[in-house]
Amino acid sequence: MSSDSHPGLHAPRPNPASAQHPTVLVTGASSGIGWATALEMAGRGWRVLAGVRRPVDGEALVQAAADGGAAGSVEWLPLDLLRPDDIAAAADHVRRVSQGTGLDGLVNSAGVALAGPLELLPVERLREQLEINSVAPIALVQALSEPLRRARGRVVNLSSVSGRNSVPFLGPYCASKFALEALSDALRVELAPWGVRVIVVQPGKVATPMWDRARTAAQDLWAPVPAADQDRYQAMKRGIERLAGQGRMSEPQAVARVIARALIARRPRARYVVGWDARLGIAFSHLPDRWRDWLIRRAIGGTAASRRP
Ligand SMILES: NC(=O)c1ccc[n+]([C@@H]2O[C@H](COP(=O)([O-])OP(=O)(O)OC[C@H]3O[C@@H](n4cnc5c(N)ncnc54)[C@H](OP(=O)(O)O)[C@@H]3O)[C@@H](O)[C@H]2O)c1
Repeated sequence: MSSDSHPGLHAPRPNPASAQHPTVLVTGASSGIGWATALEMAGRGWRVLAGVRRPVDGEALVQAAADGGAAGSVEWLPLDLLRPDDIAAAADHVRRVSQGTGLDGLVNSAGVALAGPLELLPVERLREQLEINSVAPIALVQALSEPLRRARGRVVNLSSVSGRNSVPFLGPYCASKFALEALSDALRVELAPWGVRVIVVQPGKVATPMWDRARTAAQDLWAPVPAADQDRYQAMKRGIERLAGQGRMSEPQAVARVIARALIARRPRARYVVGWDARLGIAFSHLPDRWRDWLIRRAIGGTAASRRP
């Protein structure tokens, strides 16, 4: 659905009080897209509240902003999305520092990617994946709805082409992004009457530490799996690893610039796709299921039997 179809969404951003230094909270600002977004917005004169889990990462970001000529524009705050107390404390802080002006932007960038066959995945890890990538962005919107309303702010949710295509071994991650897409679609219409826009950004592959982290997490998940179970999935695993290593990746700064556009544009779109691979992936998602499954199985060279024994 396009935001352009909703009446009343074309009004200019009416927050003169924050026009000089609008405020944005960026989650997952310790690395990758969150880091790049924090610096991008600081460079554009925004006041950036950067959610990180470790103080050392917050300090490094503050220093990077200063090195880039935006000293004093970034403030870090502790924010582990698996800790409700962190979310409450961060929201209190945001409300305090944005008193009078409200919160102009919430960028939900924090995320993790779990990889592995669903049959073998401990369900508590699946819950954790969904909690960080899908539930926490809504918990933040709830906690920050008052300052967001006051500023007629924008919520930018980092989805992915994986929010449109679910592929083997990435089921937990894809589920989390499909859920984020669904939640964003509902939220966009729910908050529209107050001028709060909800925008989804869908990158393809981006060169960030997420890929190494996902590989390490997958190895940790894989290690305790009994050899017989591992053997069943070996061929598919090799195919997926081969595919994962292919293709060019976008730079996180390119995604950050798109996020900036989503935060600043007078008439932001409901969705922004970043990267040729994301466009291709979205086109792929329109194929009939049978064709998609066949193409995926062919690409990964899986040996899954198609007939009953
Ligand atoms: N990289 C890609 O190819 C790609 C493609 C499409 C979409 N995306 C999405 O873009 C977003 C950013 O990913 P990225 O590529 O920038 O990955 P990244 O470099 O690994 O950054 C992920 C961030 O999330 C934070 N995080 C992880 N668990 C957290 C938790 N429990 N609470 C709070 N923060 C947590 C990490 O903090 P720590 O450093 O403390 O772990 C880090 O700051 C994610 O939502 C991802 O799904 C990425």
